[in-house]
Amino acid sequence: MKAVKTEATAFAPATVANVACGFDVLGFALESPGDEVTVRVTAERGIVITDISSDDGLPELNLPTNPLENTAGGAVAAYLDGIQADFGVSMSIRKRMPAGSGMGSSAASAAAALVAVNALVEKPLSPEELVDFGMKGEAIASGSEHADNVAPAIMGGIVLIRGYKPTDVVRINAPQHLHCTVIRPHCEVSTKEARGILPKEIPMKTAITQWGNLAGLIVGLMQSDDGLIARSLHDVVAEPHRAALIPGFYAMKQAALDAGALGCSISGSGPSVFALSTSRKAAERVGAAMHAALTEACTEGTLYVSRLAEGSPRIVSLK
Ligand code: HSE
Repeated sequence: MKAVKTEATAFAPATVANVACGFDVLGFALESPGDEVTVRVTAERGIVITDISSDDGLPELNLPTNPLENTAGGAVAAYLDGIQADFGVSMSIRKRMPAGSGMGSSAASAAAALVAVNALVEKPLSPEELVDFGMKGEAIASGSEHADNVAPAIMGGIVLIRGYKPTDVVRINAPQHLHCTVIRPHCEVSTKEARGILPKEIPMKTAITQWGNLAGLIVGLMQSDDGLIARSLHDVVAEPHRAALIPGFYAMKQAALDAGALGCSISGSGPSVFALSTSRKAAERVGAAMHAALTEACTEGTLYVSRLAEGSPRIVSLK
């Protein structure tokens, strides 16, 4: 396929994967923060990552510029191959969240890169079609092709991954009043490591609890039923094993619930922790309580409060 434009910049947001009870099958996009990627068409085939920069205050990035070791590079390589592109690209990546944060940092870069490159071609693919290429990027970061960050980063809103192989994604509109608090403790947890500590099998009783909660959460979100959302936001599969990787996790969770959050759990594979609340004011109050608990328990953290994103990633500029 041909490129009909020469340069595009796209923004893709941070995401909360798993959403407590939906390990690997549920995620939602935030309005902010997010990463920005600029993609430029080159006559020579292949991919060059010219620079990776980050906002002030973020820890040093240490992200690979070798495209095949980089999540954005890997996703775009799979895309160019998939559409049989007759061109190459150079990319600049601007990070607004650190890697290993549990906020879908690797997925945000891959999603922004895919949305940007897709804006350049003669016949752009649909957001759903981009998800498979995004998963190739995720495999580079974590060793597994999960879509619960990259699908909401590409499609916006809340996304259920009904099935893998073939990928079957279902987008759900986010209830307007829901606000998410995310606290990112200043430490890193590798997704690979956080996946490695999970048991390979779970007891039937645990599975029954988890799928009851997942179904309850989906219905609660679709019907905007806060009580049902609150009753369902529990994770009995990953959280009990991963909590130990996160400094002050149980103190933050208790503080969030005491401050009135509907529920609180690990964001993706951590160390970030998220809580859902019914208004921005409540989400800010919950954030202050979580932050105080984190500092008292051990370490510093960065706080984010955002609505759940309605729309897809945006094209910032197109030439
Ligand atoms: N579902 C993935 C996991 C998300 O929990 O390992 C990683 O961000």
